[in-house]
Amino acid sequence: MFPFKLSENIFYVGVNDRKTELFERMIPLPYGVSYNSYLLVDEKVVLFDSVEASFAEESLLKIKNALNGRKIDYLVIHHLEPDHTSGIKQYLAQYPDLQIICNKKAAEMLQGYYGISQNLVVVEDKAEMKIGAHELQFVFAPMVHWPEVMMTYEKTEKILFSADAFGCFGTLDGAVEDTKLNIEKYIPEMYRYYVNIVGKYGSPVQTALKKFADYQIDTICSLHGPVWRENIAKVVEIYDKLSCHEGEEGVVIVYGSMYSHTEAMAEVVARGAAEVTKNVILHDVSKSDISQIITDCFRYKTLIFGCPTYNGSIFPKMAQVLDYLELRGLKNRVFGSFGSFTWAGMAVKTLNAFAEKMQYENIGSVEVKHAMQAADYENLVELGRKIES
Ligand code: FEO
Repeated sequence: MFPFKLSENIFYVGVNDRKTELFERMIPLPYGVSYNSYLLVDEKVVLFDSVEASFAEESLLKIKNALNGRKIDYLVIHHLEPDHTSGIKQYLAQYPDLQIICNKKAAEMLQGYYGISQNLVVVEDKAEMKIGAHELQFVFAPMVHWPEVMMTYEKTEKILFSADAFGCFGTLDGAVEDTKLNIEKYIPEMYRYYVNIVGKYGSPVQTALKKFADYQIDTICSLHGPVWRENIAKVVEIYDKLSCHEGEEGVVIVYGSMYSHTEAMAEVVARGAAEVTKNVILHDVSKSDISQIITDCFRYKTLIFGCPTYNGSIFPKMAQVLDYLELRGLKNRVFGSFGSFTWAGMAVKTLNAFAEKMQYENIGSVEVKHAMQAADYENLVELGRKIES
């Protein structure tokens, strides 16, 4: 396999994973995922990140075809998570003299995960290195979304090698630059990637965005998804809004239902909401994947959740949604709730307790015994109308 040429001196040598069904064995990959790796060929040869072990040979073949007999001098590790490093020993086997550039935290992980402690060049934040005509600056971005994360800014071509940041799910089909791809496929997968992988760490993302605010960046080379050139402002805005917990206009109605009574209530709430906004998204917790449910909750401003009481508590699949959101600390939301019960109501009480704990603005609740009656219908429409537009 041959690499993609990004410029005279820079090659894309990453790979597409079309086999893995669940990223981190949790998150569905309907469009696959790419593990990106980049090669800078100058007076020295620098590889920016390696790939997952089962794809290392494919990437190494691309590297070999780009280098015409030259060797890799440096491997820069921006992020040590195994989707980018589990193949590292295969790289060392082919290029035993290469030196690994990383920070102190990554060095500890390299030792711990792979027993590697030789040939390391441990750099400090903002350290610089000249590679012929190209000049690198290593910039730490801790907790985006692991502690060792760093990025590299290449000054001559104004490229930011951004680790996982600005990454998304989805294979790179036939091309790697956003100028040559239909990005409509990737933007929803960037939201899902951010929320599920990085979502808990909004504050470190804000710190990193501020750190790079004064840099002129013409290209972003992330570890997953397209190389960004003409959509840099768009992807930075997505990261900025999500990491600030700024919700777009719209409502996410998440419901659990055993015998369709609570589902019928969700349909009525949606009618009220549709009088205020076109962005009305319904998720059945028993059907939608939780990765998409929480992505939409991060994306939109108003959340209205409903479910039946179950075992004197809340419907278990709804409890999982609450847990995922609490774990990621989603802030600044407008919240409403609805629910049903047969002999003793607990669902709405639990949903309201969640809203209080998360410090959401509570716009009200509707709870019915057995099944929805005419008066409930009006109250549910009214609940939907109360969403923030
Ligand atoms: Fe793509 Fe955080 O690893």
